[in-house]
Amino acid sequence: MSSSPQKVQFEGTPSSSQSREKGSSPKSNRSKNPRKNKPFEKSRPKHSPQEHEPRTRTTLELLKLKGKRTIVGLTAYDALLGRLVSDAGVDFILVGDSVGTTMLGHSTTIPVTIQDMIHHTASVRRANPDCLLVADLPFGEASLSFDRLLESARSLMQKGGADAVKIEGGRDVADDIEKLVLTGIPVLGHIGLLPQTVKAIGGYRKFGSKQEEAESLYTDAIALEEAGCFGLVAEMVEASVASELARQILPPLIGIGSGDGCDGQILVTPDLLGLSNGSIPSFVKPKLNLNQEISQALTEYVIDVKKRKKSPSS
Ligand code: KIV
Repeated sequence: MSSSPQKVQFEGTPSSSQSREKGSSPKSNRSKNPRKNKPFEKSRPKHSPQEHEPRTRTTLELLKLKGKRTIVGLTAYDALLGRLVSDAGVDFILVGDSVGTTMLGHSTTIPVTIQDMIHHTASVRRANPDCLLVADLPFGEASLSFDRLLESARSLMQKGGADAVKIEGGRDVADDIEKLVLTGIPVLGHIGLLPQTVKAIGGYRKFGSKQEEAESLYTDAIALEEAGCFGLVAEMVEASVASELARQILPPLIGIGSGDGCDGQILVTPDLLGLSNGSIPSFVKPKLNLNQEISQALTEYVIDVKKRKKSPSS
């Protein structure tokens, strides 16, 4: 006869059966919980000036911001960052395939899979962000067949909880984007530097400094506008070209490393926080050096614990 293993219960924590019963958690357990904050409690500082600003929750609301004020987006990859970024007042969160380089240890975004994207998008969705949530379509998904593209875009919305998807590419993907939009999938375009093509273009660089390339960007932007994109990301586009594109197209042009003449700005949040495995792009002015701060805090803690003497009573 096998005896079931003795369950260890720590003082002050509810037993698993107690914690499973909804609404039955006794106050006494709550008050002993050492974690003071409930998960996803608002992290926005009190008296924030944006407390009463209306939030951007739909693609239409984002579109309407063009010409009124600069749109702001940031990336997030999990519930914790999603909550913090939402509470900062962004108009949209992008679950970028930059998750590959920022969080998953890849050197490019190419190895990121649709399953990775669904997993991380669903995590951000669980933070209940109070803004539009856009998820990136990863490498290869737009180039196999329209059915595959449709299935992947759908899964980002149905399983990941995204409000919209982002697709890298210009006129080459415009027809498929138009069909997606007609099925009810809102699409954010992405032109200029396309990180998913880094192996083909041989590295990261600025786009649009030559006349021919600037014209090609314009053709791409118009094709995406006509396909029904509700916005376009312009990555590493010459500032003068980006501001002219923003003037020429109806959907907002959201720049990253493309100057201040865009209708909006997006950054990779870990870059902004100085939390990075690699180098931070030169156009980012980090607000913090989290690498240093975290590393210092962790080292201090480890040294501190190692120095502690074991108490004789324990
Ligand atoms: O993956 C990402 O984070 C992006 C941004 C650079 C726009 O595509």
